[in-house]
Order: sequence, then structure tokens, then C-alpha cells
Amino acid sequence: MNTINNKLPTTIIIFGASGDLTQRKLIPSLFNLFRKRKTPKQLQIIGCGTTEFSNESFRKHLLEGMKNFATYKFTQEEWNIFASNLRYLTGTYSEVEDFKKLAEQLKKYEDNENTNRLYYMAVPPKIFPSIIENLHKTDQLEERKGYWRRVVIEKPFGTSLETAITLNKQVHKALHENQVYRIDHYLGKETVQNILFTRFANTIYEPIWNRNYIDHVQITVAEKVGLEHRAGYYDGVGVLRDMFQNHLLQLLTLVAMEPPASFSASHLRNEKVKVLSAIKPLSPEEVLTNTVRAQYKGYSQEKGVGAESTTATFAALRLFINNWRWQGVPFYLRSGKNLSEKQSQIIIQFKEPPLAMFPMQTMKPNMLVLFLQPDEGVHLRFEAKAPDKVNETRSVDMEFHYDEAFGKSAIPEAYERLLLDAIQGDASLFTRADEVETAWSIIDPILQTWDTHQTPPLAVYKPSSWGPAESDMLLAKDGRRWLNEESDA
Ligand code: BG6
Repeated sequence: MNTINNKLPTTIIIFGASGDLTQRKLIPSLFNLFRKRKTPKQLQIIGCGTTEFSNESFRKHLLEGMKNFATYKFTQEEWNIFASNLRYLTGTYSEVEDFKKLAEQLKKYEDNENTNRLYYMAVPPKIFPSIIENLHKTDQLEERKGYWRRVVIEKPFGTSLETAITLNKQVHKALHENQVYRIDHYLGKETVQNILFTRFANTIYEPIWNRNYIDHVQITVAEKVGLEHRAGYYDGVGVLRDMFQNHLLQLLTLVAMEPPASFSASHLRNEKVKVLSAIKPLSPEEVLTNTVRAQYKGYSQEKGVGAESTTATFAALRLFINNWRWQGVPFYLRSGKNLSEKQSQIIIQFKEPPLAMFPMQTMKPNMLVLFLQPDEGVHLRFEAKAPDKVNETRSVDMEFHYDEAFGKSAIPEAYERLLLDAIQGDASLFTRADEVETAWSIIDPILQTWDTHQTPPLAVYKPSSWGPAESDMLLAKDGRRWLNEESDA
């Protein structure tokens, strides 16, 4: 962890401040942190963008966003205090002159020259390298006299292994790795962090968390929403780059990693990289039998999508982790848009009992289900004796639900935690350069086979379904099935 010096004044500079992310997530999160008195006492937020705004119109635009997107109640008075620290600067990202102006303005706003700075890249990936270069040229990234300079970079980080390596090189020309915070908002979700707490704050799971007891693991991130006017970004990118390279592989690492020596950023991320490195990249033949790609019916008629688009909006993968703990245990991953419902969950399915001792016993395996969203919680399914029957068993659940245990709205927005961690210099929940590249080395061969050999063929699925039949087949081949609903799981 870097030196925490929250007593020092801090400036957050958001590039891409006129965009959606700032209005929907960043400002509501920063405002809530401010209300909870978690931000540094002297905090300024400077929005930068190419769209023209005055300070006043920027504040008004953000307040409108607050009314639409904030998940908590606030008073006008609270907002006024917070908003008095919000400013906006119009400029381009490519002109070094604009960055000189930014440096001058910042000097004016910051009355203490020992002010920490967090630069947030809420811009498309092709833009942030020139921002970092220009900040570097204008000497705005150098850390001196105990104050820090950090850069948060939004996903996607590259579009392939090659581009991710190039981006990392560009970033490292101007910054040390410990100044870089590559964000994956899934890691900011409480329930995602709870995977680690379930595993490592309890003793009961670890002895059975391996190939001797676990039959397989299912990771589902299903979205009900379709393209939502994001064709410009999504078409050509597709579900593998949008969801698997980052969110789903991150979930997999948390389920599969070895216990780290501590929760420090380096120990935690070392273990995650080890898991990713143990996944053997698939050969073209293996891609054919271990992956499914599909597009929802009607996708090519969406606004901004080409009629011939082969972008996959759904994918399912079967991956193996080649190490002592997981050898031979399939990890089934799936994600897609326009599915039956929004549901993110991880199912750990244990092996069947070796012997059916009770004549009326159906062989049902135990199951641990981590519900990530929307009904956040954990279920443990086990068999119990059915009352008033001699030999029958029933499957029952032990359940923990966040809202029952901790109250409604106990779960903050993922960005709150991540922004706070970046301010406090804790990079545990951010992805390191080698981690991003190793994740790409798993996804890249799949994308290449899909693109060059066109295999497996692009399947089609009905909107509001659970994906194409091919996805069910992927598990059926192994004598297994997806567990779709809470009742099912
Ligand atoms: C984003 C993807 O990273 O995650 C989106 O770009 C997706 O396409 C979103 O909709 C899902 O996030 P959440 O938090 O709603 O599960």
C-alpha cells in the first residue's frame, strides 16, 4: 500500500467528465463518500472534457444526474456544499497546450502545493494514452515531497493481448505501476469481495475447496438489458471482450486462487495471476468443443449495428485450471445480453455422496451458491430427512441475504469502494499489468479462432431466454446442466 495521507488536500481530475459514467456513477459515489465523511477534508473535483460547460452548467448537469441515478436520499444543502468544490475545464485531449492550461488552473485552485492528485480516465481506451503522455510532458505525474499522483483507468484495457501490452508500455513510460489503478467495477461489489471473505474468513470451506470434493463450478453473469444504445462501443467488441476478459475471469480467480499470505495488493494479485497462468489457452480444436458464441435474434436490426454483424452477445466457455487444487474440475462460464433475467451467481457444486445409504435417497449433490446480484446472499444446499417418512430426503437451503442481515440499502455502489481505495492507495481491488495481460492470453486465442476459422458457428438465441441450445449442450456433453433460477439452484 502507498503512503496514506488523507490529511493532505486532494484534487480529483476526471477526464471524460461530460460523459455518462461521470454522471451516473462517479459523482453519485464521490458525493456519497463526501456525505459519509470518508473523503479527504479538502477535496476538489475538476471535470475535463471537450464538451463546453461552465462551472455552473456542469454542476446543474450533475445534479440532474443525481436526481436520476443516485440510490440514496440527499438534501439540497448537502449538494450545495459538495457542488461548491466542483469545477469544469473545457479542452482537447491531444493538445499539450491544453494540459499546460490545466496545470496552471490546478495551481490556482490548489492553495497548498502539497496536494494529492487522482486523475480518472473516464474516456474510451484509444484516448487515455495521449492524456497520460500530455500529463507526463507537462510534469503533472511526478510524485514529490510525499504527495502522490495516481491514475485510474477504466476498462476495457486493450482489445487483444498485443494492444494491452502496447498500452501497458505506454502507461509505464510515464508512471510507475504502483501509480496505476486499472478498474474493474465487479471487484468493487460487496458480494464479489465476499467470495474471498466466505473462503478465507471461515475454516469450514477450505478443506473441501478442491478437486476431491468439488464436481464443477458455474459462473453466470446474465443481463436482461440488450444493447441500450451502445452499438458504437459494443458492436465489434462483443461479450468476450466486454465481460469475460475482465469481470468473469476476475470472478474465477477469486473462487480458484490459493489463500494469499495477506490481503495486501501484491500478495492478492500474485495469487490471481497464478490462477490465470494455470489456465491453458485453448487450441483452435479446443475452441470448437469448449466455447459457444451466439447473438440474440434482432441484434443486427439494433440502431448502429451493421446488418452483417457477427458480434457475439452471448458466450459460454468451459475452462480448466491446471494445478493441484483444480485439475479436472470444469469451470463453466457464461454471460450474455438480452437474457431471461439479470442474475449474477456462482455455483460450487460438490460431488455426490459415494454411497446412497437410504433406499429412497435421490443422489443430490450439495451446492454452495453465491448470489452476487440482484438478490445478494449465499445459500448452502444440503439434504435433510423428510419428516414422517422412513427413508426420504429433501433438499433444503441455509440462506443468508444481505438485506435481511444488514438492512436494505446496506450495499453501496461498487465505485464508492473503488474510488475510496484509489484515494487511500490500496490497489488490491485493481488489476495489475501482468494480470490484465494474462487474462488476455486466455481470451485472445478464442477470439482469433472465432474470427479466422468461424468456429464454432455463431448461434442465435431468443431474447429473454437463457441463451442458445448450444450452451446447454456444452454442459450436457459432460452430463451436467446450467442451474438458472434461484429455486433451481
Ligand atoms: C460493463 C459492461 O463493464 O458491465 C456492460 O461494459 C455491462 O456491457 C456491465 O452491462 C454490467 O455491469 P453490472 O454491474 O450491471 O453487472
